Amino acid sequence: MNNRPTVLVTGGAGFIGSHTCLELLEHDHDVVVIDNHSNSSPGALDRVRKLAGRPLPAYEVDIRDRDALGEVFAAHRIDAVIHFAAKKAVGESMQIPLSYYDTNVGGTATLLRVMQAHDVQQLVFSSSCSIYGEAEQLPLDEQSPANPTNPYARSKWICEQMMADACTRYPDLGIIALRYFNPVGAHPSGELGEDPSGVPNNLMPYMAQVAVGRLDEVAVFGADYPTPDGTCIRDYIHVVDVADGHRLAVEHLGDETGMRVLNLGTGVGVSVLELVTAFSAASGTPLPHRIAGRRPGDVAELVADPSRVEQAWGWRTTRDLTAMCADAWRFQQLNPAGYGG
Ligand code: UD1
Repeated sequence: MNNRPTVLVTGGAGFIGSHTCLELLEHDHDVVVIDNHSNSSPGALDRVRKLAGRPLPAYEVDIRDRDALGEVFAAHRIDAVIHFAAKKAVGESMQIPLSYYDTNVGGTATLLRVMQAHDVQQLVFSSSCSIYGEAEQLPLDEQSPANPTNPYARSKWICEQMMADACTRYPDLGIIALRYFNPVGAHPSGELGEDPSGVPNNLMPYMAQVAVGRLDEVAVFGADYPTPDGTCIRDYIHVVDVADGHRLAVEHLGDETGMRVLNLGTGVGVSVLELVTAFSAASGTPLPHRIAGRRPGDVAELVADPSRVEQAWGWRTTRDLTAMCADAWRFQQLNPAGYGG
């Protein structure tokens, strides 16, 4: 036995989950993973074990399976939970909205009930900047109005409201919802990265697959937005900074009870064309790209005001756009077919 805190990470084999597991293991936490591998590979967990040099128990469990979840809580003394397990593709959420509510909202409710049954009171929740929708004012701080524009974003917003209700009713609960902007990049070792199944929806993994020759060219979705170069602006944040933010959140869970909401972003906006240029520089070859039509549901600009988390914990991002592109490119080169290769 040891006195390390044990963190259950749901969705721990995914892109952000796997980086967070490593960060926790490197900072003297014990970690237990559940994941149903619907959009992740068990290979990611083997990489985490190798990098950390520590054991990482993992269970193939669906977040909606209350009995199976209960068995994991019974087998381990869990101190806190980080909840990533969810569906996350905006376009898909418009095609199969009920499946999104079932997994994201139903799964979160199930998890909260199992935590309650096992007297676990501390949770970090994976939320999203997408709940802000089309911004009235930039940058976006946590007081900005929620205006989710698709079922994925709405499911995250409903979860936040559900958790706030739970905190009102159960005063011992302590929940931190982290609203992240656009996590990209990879672990600098090249061992961990983003390995989406099928053709990537998101810009960074798409560019990486073009650069490695798996896809022909990048389609830039719209060059007629009211931005300096006409393409959409996002606040890209290195996934290792996101993982670091989760580890800090776990360490601050005990500071107070109730619900806290914090943005994780850099505060710096980057356009699609700027990202294409930065990735071309990182990979050493100009990335073939063409201007295409707008993607339905996209908003022109999303940039975080990250000052609340900085004031609360003295935390800010430390990895810039060059590192995000260089690390994503390294993972893609070393793993041209992802974890399966
Ligand atoms: C969306 C969600 C975000 C979610 C993320 C993960 C919103 C506002 N954001 O981010 O909450 O966590 O998905 O799934 O709903 N682009 C191209 N060509 C491409 C792909 C993308 O030009 O092939 C552009 C998009 O139009 C967008 C930018 O690149 O302007 C970033 O897109 P993407 O990486 O998909 O992330 P978001 O849509 O911002």
